[in-house]
Amino acid sequence: MKNYIIHDPWHIIEDQFRAEHNEFSESIFSIGNGRMGQRANFEEAYSGKTMQGSYLAGVYYPDKTRVGWWKNGYPEYFAKVINAVQWIGLDIQIDGTTLDLAQCEIISFERRLDMKAGVLYRTFRAKMPNGKEVEITAKRMYHLFQSDTASLQYTLRVLNSDADVAVRSYLDGDVVNRDSNYDERFWVPIAEDIQDDLVLVKETRKTTFRVEARLRNVCYVGGTAQSSGIKRKEQFYVGEELHAHLKAGESIRMEKYVAMVSSLNHPLDKLTEAAQNSLEKIASKSYDELIQLQTEAWARIWEESDIQIEGDVAAQQAIRFNIFQLNQTYTGEDARLNIGPKGFTGEKYGGVTYWDTEAYCLPFYLATQEPKVARNLLLYRYQHLEKAIENAGKLGFSDGAALYPMVTINGEECHNEWEITFEEIHRNGAIAFAIYNYVRYTDDSEYLSTHGLEVLIGISRFWAQRVNWSEQKQQYVMLGVTGPNEYENNVNNNWYTNKIAVWCLRYTLKVIAQEQTLHEDRLYELLSRLDFKAEESPLWQHIVDNMYLPEDSGRGVFLQQDGFLDKELIPVAELPAGVRPLNQHWSWDRILRSCYIKQADVLQGIYFFEDEFDTNTIRRNYDFYEPLTVHESSLSPCVHAIIAAKLGKEDKAYEFYLRTARLDLDDYNNDTEDGLHITSMAGTWLAIVEGFAGMRVRDGQLHFQTFIPKNWQSYAFHVQYRGTKLYINVSQDDFEVKNLSDTEISIIFNGEQLLIEPEWKS
Ligand code: BGC
Repeated sequence: MKNYIIHDPWHIIEDQFRAEHNEFSESIFSIGNGRMGQRANFEEAYSGKTMQGSYLAGVYYPDKTRVGWWKNGYPEYFAKVINAVQWIGLDIQIDGTTLDLAQCEIISFERRLDMKAGVLYRTFRAKMPNGKEVEITAKRMYHLFQSDTASLQYTLRVLNSDADVAVRSYLDGDVVNRDSNYDERFWVPIAEDIQDDLVLVKETRKTTFRVEARLRNVCYVGGTAQSSGIKRKEQFYVGEELHAHLKAGESIRMEKYVAMVSSLNHPLDKLTEAAQNSLEKIASKSYDELIQLQTEAWARIWEESDIQIEGDVAAQQAIRFNIFQLNQTYTGEDARLNIGPKGFTGEKYGGVTYWDTEAYCLPFYLATQEPKVARNLLLYRYQHLEKAIENAGKLGFSDGAALYPMVTINGEECHNEWEITFEEIHRNGAIAFAIYNYVRYTDDSEYLSTHGLEVLIGISRFWAQRVNWSEQKQQYVMLGVTGPNEYENNVNNNWYTNKIAVWCLRYTLKVIAQEQTLHEDRLYELLSRLDFKAEESPLWQHIVDNMYLPEDSGRGVFLQQDGFLDKELIPVAELPAGVRPLNQHWSWDRILRSCYIKQADVLQGIYFFEDEFDTNTIRRNYDFYEPLTVHESSLSPCVHAIIAAKLGKEDKAYEFYLRTARLDLDDYNNDTEDGLHITSMAGTWLAIVEGFAGMRVRDGQLHFQTFIPKNWQSYAFHVQYRGTKLYINVSQDDFEVKNLSDTEISIIFNGEQLLIEPEWKS
């Protein structure tokens, strides 16, 4: 764990430079705008520990698979959203010596992320090896208002004597990925141009994404704009060098305005025009105007998605950090994009899609954005249906059965560990559940009819083929799976997987029946296009009625899988000190044989299907499984926070909340240097809204069942629901609900039916 991020409601602050933790800080201070983003690398040279990374959403490379032992069915590649153009670079020479913090005596240092405005600040004073003292103030933005652009402002003041300063501002396209499987180069150079703006064009190998980066530098010395400097180009590189002789106390200010466009969004012959237009839009403004526009754009986001907590700055900062990161990773404008578990903040899992999106992120976007944002997340999977059918085909399934990949960017499977790629099939269920969740929340049943049902049928066909009839049990079983708890592989009858499979089949049958009444013609057209056979529905119903769901009647709990009770059940609390995280201390074999649970598994099912169980059943399962859970996936604490809150275990709920909320800020799992846990950040939001505020949708009505942690004075948030917008404020002994829209809404609040008139009427 780390404990040096200073608590503040709107800022993330570090007030010292810690070279040994630089990669951690680079992750924490990452910024982006949904279209692109970057780790908080320094502008000037840095010879210490750093992981360079700036990424463009959807621009990926299919890195050839690397595995120890090839298994039939493994994908050929792992798609990576790759390091793109290093655009922030400033090479600074002061009296011929390079400014490099790793070589300086640091007098003061502060990095500050202003989450309200979406601006990253860094200031430092340092003494260089040649005795020169300098002061730097740097500001950087990925603009929300023009999402293919970014900018920075960098001011350098010499403090203790006159100095000759040379600043070379450049674009560097010769970048690599640390996680490249075969140290391959992912880019080929196409063109460099320095006639006017500095332009770098390059293209990915294999996927042929062409990227054009266009940079304009503006330089001021002592407030006076300088004419352009000496320009230079090389393969993958364009730069412009400016010189100034500064007297002690004088400064040079460099502003970099950059547009980065790609063939993902523009035809090849329009790339240059697109880059020029976008660059013009920002370069025609002063830096202060850009900050103003950025602040306004963020204000609109905060207006919808902020959560205000009174009385607990650590919790307040954390929830804002989580919300900030989610909004800078995904804006929902483009159904080809999704939410990578590390967003634009690191390489591992960066930019690719997991079940995390459907299981954790969707509810956040549903409640804080227009429905089209969540709909785009569903459309992403809809567009990949054919590939999911192909993917299932590669594993031996047929007749339209669809298995969505564990990890993907374009619909094709990228994951290559058999126990996950082939066996962690519960992900299919989350994709179906997201359709249900979306329709339950928005009431957009038209989506079901035009898109959702087709996906549900593909998924149901998969389940119907994946189960088999057990003569011995006289029930259907599902063998050889990995549940959400990845610390068990190749188990039989994982309760969660069996449960969600049955749920999918039942839900699909229900939607077919509904469609028969509502859109008969459309339904028959769909069923005939999908070559839906008469025997499919009865078979699905038979599986629904006869699926084996393991449970232990003595304990009154569902069994995570067959044989779970044969394990030695020693609670996590009794594990010796120093063995956690288990995955860094125990052999895999030992983990597999142990009872320890990586993340919610049975409890994930209880979370999804809560209304099917009475409170005692939920309590028994929670009390049995939680003590065996090590929460070594970032996705774990939030589900436990929500269930603990429901069970009235308020201290536990709060403990899990803090753990999920400050997971990265305090580096709980000691892995934040690889990048932030973006998808679990949605879980933090869930922990407050579904956990503490108990928000649910039941029978088309919003319900809240609130509690407030002891040390908070109040918490407040907005949710959008079916065209209305509510403001909820819960304090220690009161609550307030405001309807900020034009239509009245009836909700159930702490058990009472309330009709909430629009605010302007009251
Ligand atoms: C979790 C998975 C998750 C993945 C990406 C793994 O550690 O076990 O459930 O999908 O991380 O976040």
